[in-house]
Parts: sequence; structure tokens; C-alpha cells
Amino acid sequence: MAEIHRGLADVAIDTSQVCNIDGERGELIYRGYDIRELADKASYEEVVYLLWNDDLPTSTQLASFRADLAQIFAVPASVHDALSVVPQGVAPMHALRTAVSMLGSLDLDADGVDDANVRRIGMRLVAQLPTVVAAFQRIRAGLEPIAPRADLSVAGNFLYMLTGEEPTEAATRVMDVALVLHAEHGSNASTFVARSVASTLSDVYSSITAAIGSLKGPLHGGANEAVMKALEKIGDLAGVEQHVLDVLGKPGGRVMGFGHRVYRVLDPRAMVLRKVAEKLAAESGDSLYFDMSLEMERVMEREMSARGKQVRPNVDFFSASVYRMLGFPTDMYTPVFAVARISGWMAHLYEQYADNRLMRPRLVYQGPTGRKFRPVEDR
Ligand code: ACO
Repeated sequence: MAEIHRGLADVAIDTSQVCNIDGERGELIYRGYDIRELADKASYEEVVYLLWNDDLPTSTQLASFRADLAQIFAVPASVHDALSVVPQGVAPMHALRTAVSMLGSLDLDADGVDDANVRRIGMRLVAQLPTVVAAFQRIRAGLEPIAPRADLSVAGNFLYMLTGEEPTEAATRVMDVALVLHAEHGSNASTFVARSVASTLSDVYSSITAAIGSLKGPLHGGANEAVMKALEKIGDLAGVEQHVLDVLGKPGGRVMGFGHRVYRVLDPRAMVLRKVAEKLAAESGDSLYFDMSLEMERVMEREMSARGKQVRPNVDFFSASVYRMLGFPTDMYTPVFAVARISGWMAHLYEQYADNRLMRPRLVYQGPTGRKFRPVEDR
């Protein structure tokens, strides 16, 4: 009988050169570089280049990579048309999933899975996911989408396309850091889904559409929205403790933004984002959600230690308050995650297509056996 690993916990599906996570030491490494150093010093474009190649770019390579991306920031008008028929009130993750599928339908070479074609599509998706998310936000607010500017970075352009105003250097840097931190995370649920779809030799757009669906779930990328909704519902510092106790008091209750399959200590990305959120809160003079987050962390630490569990904040926990301070509506938090994670998904698709084996695990059957068919009138 096959051995059962529920949730594929601790199952390695292949080797990878892209990223390493040490859950005991709280380390996240992109191709040999510590995430804390990259978040401190690197731009998102440098990190995308790193994830897709052996090492960081030289200045010439970076300039040409940026220029190549800038040429394809804009999406076809028919994608705007498709976004404008999405009914009011539909969450942007649905719109993003639809738009990526539409981009695939518009691409006459969508099905080619040779390395050159997969990388061409990867460039397109990294350049255009921010454009799609920003356009949908404008369209649903009854505003015209704003055309991307070739002179801005991915982070700067995203902020610009949301408001039409050139963002400050400080806001662009915060966005850049968020993109770097969310870019890649090994064989997480959505990356596994992307690799799994690609393993049938289906196309990149199908793999990424499926990955977006996986990221959307509240146990994965959707947790950042769930965190903010919980904070909004609680409303003040005094209500945090009772909220945590209420959630933990329910069978199987999960406090959103806490816990991780791999990390047993603090997620290094949460550590960086906590500092970013603290700085933004101090600068804005509005620290309510940050203070509530710290209080939630304190109560969870106490309650989880009392239960002998190691459940710490994950990347989604502090990203929620950072995104709020950047002015994003709550249901845009997970699409912003996708805007970053597309680079990691693509890095894994390059590996998967380059040396493919169909993903096909098993289930252990526990249903009835030996039944005999009787015609419907005899049942
Ligand atoms: N709140 C309360 N208890 C928790 C939490 C939490 N957020 N997370 C884990 N635990 C406890 C569980 O009760 C469980 O206890 P038990 O062994 O007594 O049943 C133990 O810790 C292990 O938890 P599992 O759910 O079995 O861990 P798993 O690895 O399957 O799940 C997951 C990880 C899904 C992230 C889980 O921690 C969770 O549901 N967290 C809340 C949602 C969330 O924040 N997701 C974002 C993750 S980061 C990302 O995807 C980008």
C-alpha cells in the first residue's frame, strides 16, 4: 500500500535551483542570497532576473531587462473590455484569473513549451499582471485605466497606474520591498499547482491561471485579506485578545496570518514587513492596525506556547497593514501578492518544462468493494 502523506507534508517532488527555506532557522534564500539582504538592497527587477537566471544581473543586463519589460507593460484593449464586463462586487482575484486566461487566448503562440517561448510568456506576465490589477481597480471605480509609463519600475508603475500620480520614492521602495519578499517561496501550494499543470505539458497560461486560483484561498495568499477583514471587524486594540480567544475556542479555529507548513520560527518575511509596517505607521501618525497586529502577535504567542505549539506570524500577517497604509482596498491584497509571485511561478515553470515528469500521485482507496450491479428498477 502506498504511504499516505496528507497535504503532501515533507514530500519532495523534485530538485530545484531557485529557492531554499530553512524552517527551523527561519531562513529564506533565493539562489544563494538571503531574503533579508535582498529586501534591504535589491530592486524587484533584479530579483526577478536572479530567480530566472544563475545570478544577479550586471548593470547592462539589468538595464536591458528593464527596457524589455517596459516595452510590454501595456495589455491589449480587449483585456480592458473583458475586465469592464466583470460585474460590480466581483473580487479582483476572479478578474485577474480571467484576464490571464484571456491573455492566453490572445497569444497565438500560447501552447509552445520550449524554453524560449515559456520565457517570452514569463516576461509578458511579469510586465502585465500589475497593469491588469491596476486597470481592474480603475474600471470598477468607474475610472479610465491609466497607460503604463516606460520610465517607471514595475513597483512605481503599479502605484502610478492606480492613481495617475507619480508615486514618491519612499512609496515605490515600500512596494519594491513587498514585491521582493513575495516573489518566491519554493514549493508552496500555488507553485506546486503551477508545476503540476505544466507537468502535463499544458501551456503557461493554464498553469498560471490555476496557480492564481490556488493563491486565492484563505489558507494561502488569501490570508492577507482575511487578516485585514479580521482587524476591521475587531475595530480597536481592546477587542484583539477576545477575538483570538474566540477563534481558538472553536474546533479547528485558525487565526489568519499565523502558522506555516515549513517555518517553526518567525517567517523572515514577516520580520522585514513588521519593520516596514512600524515605519509607515509612525510616519502616517495612524498606528491603529499596526498596534492591533502587535497585540494579536502577543496574545497568539502566549496562547500557542501554552498549547505547546509553534505558530508564529507569516508573510500575510504584516503585509495586510503595509498594504492598508499604501492605500490598497482590502480585496486587492491577494492580487498584489500574485503581481509579485508570478516571477516565482515562472522560475519554477522554466525548471519544470526543462526536465519534465508528469505529476501523478496516488490515493489510497477506502471505499466499498465487491458490489454487484443491479438494474435501476431493482434498486
Ligand atoms: N491559528 C491557530 N492554530 C493554528 C494556526 C492558526 N493560524 N496555524 C496552525 N495552527 C495549529 C493547528 O491547530 C495545529 O494544531 P494541532 O496539531 O493540535 O491540530 C497545528 O498548529 C498545525 O497546524 P496545521 O493546520 O496542521 O498546519 P498546516 O501545515 O497543515 O497548515 C497553514 C499551515 C494552512 C498555513 C495553517 O497554519 C493555517 O491555517 N494558517 C492560517 C491561514 C494563513 O495564515 N495562511 C497563510 C500561510 S502563508 C502563505 O501561504 C503565503
